Amino acid sequence: MNFLIEDVSAAEILDSRGNPTVEVELRSQNGYVARSAVPSGASTGSREAIELRDGDTKRFGGKGVLKAVQAVNTEISDAVRGLDCRDQRGIDAALIALDGTKNKARLGANALLGVSMAVSRLAALETKLPLYRYLGGDDAHLMPVPCMNILNGGVHSRWQGADFQEFMIAPWGAPSFSEAVRWGSEVYQALRSVLLDAGLSAGVGDEGGFAPMVSSNRQPLELIIQGIEKAGYKPGEDIAICLDPASSEFFRDRKYHLKTENRTLTAEEMTTYYDQLMAEFPIVLLEDGLAENDWAGWSILHAALGHKVELVGDDIFVTNVRYIERGIHENLANAALIKLNQIGTVTETFDAVALCRNNAWGAFVSHRSGETVDSFIADMTVALGTGHLKTGAPCRGERVEKYNQLMRIERELGKSAVYAGKRAFVTTRKKD
Ligand code: PGA
Ligand code: ZN
Repeated sequence: MNFLIEDVSAAEILDSRGNPTVEVELRSQNGYVARSAVPSGASTGSREAIELRDGDTKRFGGKGVLKAVQAVNTEISDAVRGLDCRDQRGIDAALIALDGTKNKARLGANALLGVSMAVSRLAALETKLPLYRYLGGDDAHLMPVPCMNILNGGVHSRWQGADFQEFMIAPWGAPSFSEAVRWGSEVYQALRSVLLDAGLSAGVGDEGGFAPMVSSNRQPLELIIQGIEKAGYKPGEDIAICLDPASSEFFRDRKYHLKTENRTLTAEEMTTYYDQLMAEFPIVLLEDGLAENDWAGWSILHAALGHKVELVGDDIFVTNVRYIERGIHENLANAALIKLNQIGTVTETFDAVALCRNNAWGAFVSHRSGETVDSFIADMTVALGTGHLKTGAPCRGERVEKYNQLMRIERELGKSAVYAGKRAFVTTRKKD
């Protein structure tokens, strides 16, 4: 046994939106083959690591990834061949050094991440362990609450419906992960008939949630409550709600522009708005309630609501320890969203989660709106024991593959599996 990487190659494939993305294949000297595919966001934070796109308008409207593929097939392959695939940290450090820029702009975070994830997968194969166990060790056993995005708005619905991007249900009262998936799926199906009865469309957005033309950002919450009740569950007790307004997308001139409601609000007014919604609906998590550059606003939001809701920073922290550290220092939030491709390597993603954990912050693992069937984040969530993740609606292959993989893991863990349930969220952890 020598665990050495023998061959590294990449190819251009399609993601769930039909846009090109990077797939990487690694082969070990022992003949194992590991594959990974890189996701892609639409409401991206401006400080995210750079996703390298060709810009050649004759191919895929400029979105081709042949430069990133080429980087893997040449420079990166030269640097990685012959290395021990179990040395994730060493290999990721070599990738970062090879790129040489602060934001992975030269070789592309898509090129680097594809290799980084495939290294983990190859090492899992070589060591004959399931990925969650290779990454998380013997103790990995905590099953996350699946936060299912069942109603899409914002850029994920091409601004046809709500301004808020994501309305999620969290079946935290379920006895196990697979029961949570069943509850979530039943609510999803019930919501479809609630929408149709109300004369609204049941067409779906980028993450598989419905994308109806609602008349406010409150209406989706009312419809979801109806869906929960119609499916036979109790809002709050059985199923809680999480929101990701992705507000950087409607923040201009220091104001939040709610198109569906024809209103323009300040950070203070947005905070009051959220507080009112929280009084009426069982909201346990609010992600990107304010915009990536509105640090002063975040401070107000956290002071007002941080004690009663998990306030997750996505665009503001971009899975980068530098920004998360600032958030901790300035007391701006109590959790960070965790997206592999925002930072570009597995090691840096793990470091971001460790930083959150060491400061009693939540770490909320996430897919991207552009996905593939790669289910790396499912295993990673169990490995890291973060207690919750979001990976879209219980609908569309690239979304359900993550939930299905988590159900496989739960079955494999058998009696050792523990469902995070009501301890999943930073603000409910101590009460359970
Ligand atoms: P994105 O959306 O993948 O389009 O950035 C997800 C999110 O904002 O959390
Ligand atoms: Zn977000």
